[in-house]
Amino acid sequence: MMYSRLIGSGSYLPEKVLTNEELESMVDTDHDWIMARTGIAERRIAADDEFTCDLAEKASKAAIKAAGVSAQDIDLIVVATTTADQVFPSTACLLQHRLGIEGPPAFDVQAVCAGFMFALDIADKFIRTGSASCALVVGAETFSRIIDWSDRRTCILFGDGGGAVVLKADQQPGILSTHLHSDGRFKDLLCVPAGISRNYQAIQSGTAFTTMEGSEVFRWAVTAMADLVDETLAANSLDKEDVDWLIPHQANVRIINAVGRRAGFPAEKVIVTVEHHGNTSAASVPLALDESIRDGTIKPGDLVLMEGFGGGFTWGSALIRI
Ligand code: UT7
Repeated sequence: MMYSRLIGSGSYLPEKVLTNEELESMVDTDHDWIMARTGIAERRIAADDEFTCDLAEKASKAAIKAAGVSAQDIDLIVVATTTADQVFPSTACLLQHRLGIEGPPAFDVQAVCAGFMFALDIADKFIRTGSASCALVVGAETFSRIIDWSDRRTCILFGDGGGAVVLKADQQPGILSTHLHSDGRFKDLLCVPAGISRNYQAIQSGTAFTTMEGSEVFRWAVTAMADLVDETLAANSLDKEDVDWLIPHQANVRIINAVGRRAGFPAEKVIVTVEHHGNTSAASVPLALDESIRDGTIKPGDLVLMEGFGGGFTWGSALIRI
């Protein structure tokens, strides 16, 4: 039986920091409201000439270095993003070229804030079936490009960033299980109601922005991610005490705390990075994972339950032995 082992992680945040105080001069909001309702103090914003592939490249190079492999060892690239550089080719193909890799499959996955979990699931299945032996899995976003910076209900929440992991085939797990879900009935609660095929006028006029029914999304995010913990533990016949760390999607500290409480995890076992990143969509979980590995919070041998939730709705989890 073949499993995927995580052998390296990396992340990258753009240099520009956008604080709550700066947002106060852009919309009718204030730092205390944002902190109390979201736990977000600041977020990073990509420079005008910085694109999703740039963030993905920096995160990937850090992950490849940490993994101790060469880019030439990688035989699968999956990039989760909602904010691709171009309509096509995929950001994964652009990234593949930047990394000097020729030949193996590279493609994007679109599941918004749950995208990294979908990408991880796919890469894991390639490895388990012997179709790949060393996979680069990336979550990268320039979400700031699809935000209406005059809408205080959304602009305070999101940020840009990238995170990546390298998975390698191994006899030992690694990824113990992955669980994915989607439900398109909720398509209008969190969306950009424009695209290439539909409402292209909004793209042309530069008004293709994220819209959200905040409190509805909040409710569903908590329920879906709390249920995912139960589903993941049951699939592995484990108890919550067996898990060292829970990494919920970094959307809002109130969502993270509510998921932790509902799932019965003490706050000390729940990873929280949202204060300095905001919601970086598909980059949120790999960013939190990489930071926690690098600062020594998550150690080799730890059992980590990661989960994402996003527009669609989409939601998914992975249980992984580091
Ligand atoms: O990956 C998933 C992505 N989405 C999310 O994670 C978002 C989930 N939702 C949330 O995080 C929360 O719903 C928000 C943080 C967006 C909003 O918090 P809330 O506690 O649900 O507030 P609310 O939407 O019920 O709004 C309460 C009040 C409203 O005023 P009125 O109508 O009561 O007078 C809003 O207009 O707060 C007002 N408000 C603001 N005030 C200051 C909304 N945004 C702001 C703001 N600053 N930025």
